Amino acid sequence: MKLAVPAETRDGETRVAASPETVKKLIGLGFDVAVQKGAGAASAMTDAAYEAAGATLGTAATVVGDADIVLKVRAPSDAERKRIKAGAALIGILDAYNDADGLKAYAAGGINAFAMELAPRITRAQSMDVLSSQSNLAGYKAVLDGSAEIGSALPMMMTAAGTVPAARCFVMGAGVAGLQAIATARRLGAIVSATDVRYAAKEQVESLGATFVSVDEEVMKAAETEGGYAKEMGEDFQRRQREHVTEHLKKQNLVILTALIPGRQAPTLVTEEMVKGMPPGSVIVDLAVEQGGNCELSKPGEIVEAHGVKILGHRNVPGRLPANASALYAKNLLNFVQLIVADGALAIDWDDEIVKGVALTRDGKIIHPRFAEEAAAPAEPEAEPEPDEAPAAANDGDEPAASDDE
Ligand code: NAI
Repeated sequence: MKLAVPAETRDGETRVAASPETVKKLIGLGFDVAVQKGAGAASAMTDAAYEAAGATLGTAATVVGDADIVLKVRAPSDAERKRIKAGAALIGILDAYNDADGLKAYAAGGINAFAMELAPRITRAQSMDVLSSQSNLAGYKAVLDGSAEIGSALPMMMTAAGTVPAARCFVMGAGVAGLQAIATARRLGAIVSATDVRYAAKEQVESLGATFVSVDEEVMKAAETEGGYAKEMGEDFQRRQREHVTEHLKKQNLVILTALIPGRQAPTLVTEEMVKGMPPGSVIVDLAVEQGGNCELSKPGEIVEAHGVKILGHRNVPGRLPANASALYAKNLLNFVQLIVADGALAIDWDDEIVKGVALTRDGKIIHPRFAEEAAAPAEPEAEPEPDEAPAAANDGDEPAASDDE
């Protein structure tokens, strides 16, 4: 059985889907592991370390071409996908909610695709939970990024020249990223408050020593889905939340925005009017920027300055800590591979709750209930690769993080 770890090609993607440590374990499971040269370079995982772990090195075409399992961080580009053989398993953060064409193409190419971001939030799946492993790092990094831009200190300091007041930090959305942001800001000495629409978050926020800012606790008690995610809130709640938050923001120096609703645009929590009311020199970090943003003014990949406030919209924040992000992500995928392999062969239990949660396609069909219906129209037949996309082309994705066809 062959397992491939190609380099990521998306612009700005620093992560890699296997580490030397997980390669060793994958080999222990019976795989021949092939890693694309340079795949781990941006994560401080060297070719030599992969080789020492037992992997062979190759080009994108040679590692992926005959692989039974392909491990990726992000969804493959067209050229990358066309290299994957029919019947192979593709495992990654495939952005299934936003990639209907990709799903059809996996089915058309006979690829069995598994979107790890859809893993159910159950105890057994925790070790495979890519959203948690990456969001946790993003929450930490958001506070560091924000504090680096703020121009004032987070902790209170008493000096002979006077007292530096502690900064006030407000975290909106207290899921995995938000809770880590709270913990990090507290460690740095800020006075921290947080809010969420899920009532369950209140106790978690308070247990970290932050104040919980709530609007209507009765409405909040019904705001959590069975899967533990937030529901989209009604207009009345949103209006009251905005009024309440507007007042609170007037006193905040650092605001971390993390609110998401799976499969939908992120809710707008901070409007331009609210930004206008914030103290000059304050900073907003919008971790939801790639899902549309929680702040009206944030722009993906940019630092916007408006009304004396800086709004950070870094993309791929976990990728700003690539060594940790890759190591944890690689472990998540190893744990999933262990679930679908037995005695050195693929042994996918398609009725397993976790497999059902993440499996998008099987044997040429889209099978995930969330996407099967909308894709009921027959998939376009897969075109032959263009000459400049053919696997044998010179420098065909062999360079890591080079955008080969996007
Ligand atoms: P997420 O990334 O989908 O959203 C982040 C946070 O934003 C959530 O707490 C959500 O309630 C909040 N939010 C959404 N709309 C909002 C609004 N309008 N205003 C304020 N906040 C808003 O969520 P994440 O971080 O993935 O966590 C979701 C839940 O799953 C949490 O309860 C978490 O503790 C739980 N979880 C459970 C695991 C398990 O295995 N049991 C593993 C990981 C997370």
